[in-house]
Amino acid sequence: MKVAVLGAAGGIGQALSLLLKTQLPAGSDLALFDIAPVTPGVAVDLSHIPTAVTVKGYGQEGLTDALRGADVVLIPAGVPRKPGMDRSDLFNMNAGIIKNLVENIADTCPKALVGIITNPVNTTVAIAAEVLKKKGVYDKNRLFGVTTLDVIRAETFVGELKGKNPAELHVPVIGGHSGTTILPLLSQVEGVEFTQDEIESLTHRIQNAGTEVVEAKAGGGSATLSMGQAAARFCFSLVKGLQGENVTEYAYVEGDGSDAPYFAQAVRLGKNGIEEILPYGKLSAFEAKAKTDMLDGLKKDIQMGIDFANQ
Ligand code: NAD
Ligand code: LMR
Repeated sequence: MKVAVLGAAGGIGQALSLLLKTQLPAGSDLALFDIAPVTPGVAVDLSHIPTAVTVKGYGQEGLTDALRGADVVLIPAGVPRKPGMDRSDLFNMNAGIIKNLVENIADTCPKALVGIITNPVNTTVAIAAEVLKKKGVYDKNRLFGVTTLDVIRAETFVGELKGKNPAELHVPVIGGHSGTTILPLLSQVEGVEFTQDEIESLTHRIQNAGTEVVEAKAGGGSATLSMGQAAARFCFSLVKGLQGENVTEYAYVEGDGSDAPYFAQAVRLGKNGIEEILPYGKLSAFEAKAKTDMLDGLKKDIQMGIDFANQ
């Protein structure tokens, strides 16, 4: 198994690479690409950890080598938010980065499973899909917007509120990855009852958890450690799927289009990426209204990406 991390020297990239180095299956290769000059050093640093995972670092000119033979590519390359910014404010900086990186993926490892972490995810996934389509290699079962952080946050916050072990909770989160497009389905959490006030405040907290971190870091960036953990969990699930195991994760993917062209929902993973998109089931009246209210915004975010890639 070869996993490439693009943006590997950043806050997410380093945390993620550490988890991959320590927990990928023995015999795996880890390729770390970043334009930051420290990248070879990050790879040397990680290479001293005694696991049977080889690590190589690639700078500016090394993108093709980093991608060659990759089974999974994770992309946290790009600029994070500062207080007062929305994720959509990152579009001007990050859209071009994603376009360029995904063009290289299309040329070098078109069959890889690609997980986009770079914000605004609602839009960058649409850019990636259009780039892959233009190159004639798009496979909707192999492209993912990574929304695992929304799920682990939802499980953490419900666990805190209800005095339960978050590892034993399952909280579906559907929609997109910004503001009200993040829709936790608290009505589907088994074994837990919520009052209407709890539903409203928890939903609000999950939707604004990214901003909670941005404000707490006070100009020093956004979530990196929890995102490293979330991306690693998502990557291990992709790898397990490739190895023939049946595993389910939530991700922002191209589904049947009934809600929006891309929509975060549960997917069953396997040897070819997505094997099946699982229905999200019955929504409460509160969730159904929240979904209806946010779909126009999500569709606009997606259209922005399509227009950018085709301009
Ligand atoms: P960071 O600034 O710490 O790291 C970004 C890294 O990307 C830097 O090392 C930089 O050199 C590198 N980079 C920039 N342009 C590049 C290019 N063209 N090729 C390769 N590398 C390049 O930022 P971070 O905190 O790691 O966040 C990265 C992105 O992830 C941001 O856009 C942020 O909003 C997003 N994010 C997404 C989620 C999510 O849930 N999907 C969660 C947290 C952060
Ligand atoms: C998050 O949810 O933490 C990320 O999308 C980063 C951000 O800008 O909030």
